[in-house]
Amino acid sequence: MSILIKNGRVITVASDSVADIFIEGEQITAIGKNLSVKADKIIDATGLLVFPGGIDPHVHLEMPFMGTFSCDNYETGTRAALHGGTTTVIDFVIQKQGNSLQSALDEWRSRAENNCVGDYAFHMAVTDFNENTKKEIKKLIEKEGITSFKTFMAYKGALMIDDHQMVELMKEVKLHGGMVTSHATNGDMIDELVTKNRSEGHLSPLYHYLSQPEETEREASERFVDMANATGCPSYIVHVSCEGSLNAIRKATQRNQMVFGETCIQYLTLDASLYDKGFESAKWVMSPPLREKKDQIALWAGINQGLIETVATDHCPFNWDQKLMGKDDFSKIPNGQPGIEHRMELLYSEGVDKGKISLSKYVDVTSTSAAKLFGMYPRKGTIAVGSDADIILFDPNIKHTLSVDTHHMNVDYSAFEGWEVRGKVKMVLLRGQIAIENEQCKLNKSYGKYINRSKVNGIL
Ligand code: URP
Ligand code: ZN
Ligand code: ZN
Repeated sequence: MSILIKNGRVITVASDSVADIFIEGEQITAIGKNLSVKADKIIDATGLLVFPGGIDPHVHLEMPFMGTFSCDNYETGTRAALHGGTTTVIDFVIQKQGNSLQSALDEWRSRAENNCVGDYAFHMAVTDFNENTKKEIKKLIEKEGITSFKTFMAYKGALMIDDHQMVELMKEVKLHGGMVTSHATNGDMIDELVTKNRSEGHLSPLYHYLSQPEETEREASERFVDMANATGCPSYIVHVSCEGSLNAIRKATQRNQMVFGETCIQYLTLDASLYDKGFESAKWVMSPPLREKKDQIALWAGINQGLIETVATDHCPFNWDQKLMGKDDFSKIPNGQPGIEHRMELLYSEGVDKGKISLSKYVDVTSTSAAKLFGMYPRKGTIAVGSDADIILFDPNIKHTLSVDTHHMNVDYSAFEGWEVRGKVKMVLLRGQIAIENEQCKLNKSYGKYINRSKVNGIL
């Protein structure tokens, strides 16, 4: 099967020009003006922007967490991602404390394999680093295509590791050419505030927010980058939500450290005023919580300053009956919100359309940087001869409204209900197949492939 996409405005990090793209099988085989080739199908992209398929480097599908499972599974989550232009997601395998990394990988594979509509890869979350776990790192990097190791500096008793484990993990990961990432918030400080607020009878979602002030994130971010500096391990802070954490990255960068930052679309667009809505605020209970306007200003600037490389979602949706688990106690509300479908359109509308970021930066933070940092470039993350034909045709002029009534995520509320956005994903191709056309998904659930990631020489 061959496809010719004609006359689109093709945007990559390095170029912006009207061109044709010729696709044979799963890959792009030619790009140029007025290509004279015979194709099985011709798509007219006149007036449309053409982006590389989005990569969301932070999602939790069907994730066991806080006594329940996030409610998008691999099929519904990757399908919703495709509707929004995200063709590849990176999900987190989470080690159970006391068990091996391999057993967690086997468990996650059993849920994901043959169930994904879009392409997917895994990070490995190390929640118990010891002499046995240490022996597994090399194989994961070299044989399983997992080059990034996530740590939690919070969620004590379930996911959190201590600084000793962190340093030992960093040494081992560095030795084998990988990267350590972190949910960098201070679990002990947070737990103390949670205990205090609960003991004083403050049980509403507002106190989730008040139990995680900026300093809990700033402190852990500084400690994390310091440990990475001491060990020389490449590092990446996930879901940076505040100025203090961004400044930890800034300081580390100034001393020429290999450190990278990720923020999420909700931290750029939503703020803590949403915690003033009684129990409805449970919709936005996530960790770290939404922050202040001044943090949004810092994060947008951080993107343009090259301190934030990726904009993810941390998609971790829970239905309302799951959120109700915490109706009498904020600490029991499952943490997370939906977003996998809206990242690309929201970032275009709020970022490019409102003049905060360039088209080149948009492509970089939604796709190219994640492909580079996580060992998928140039197969993914760009539009180039030899790359997978993962392509979005995007109409920058269509206005539409986000709502639970029209989204494709398997969750019964929208975190962005009523948001007006300008710019819409019109068509999506994944490895040379039309995935989304006329708002319909054309692929089925075994189409999505596991992407074996490589070590990234020169970056890691
Ligand atoms: O609230 C969140 N972020 N839930 C998902 C787990 C995590 O911390 O990333
Ligand atoms: Zn997290
Ligand atoms: Zn997460």
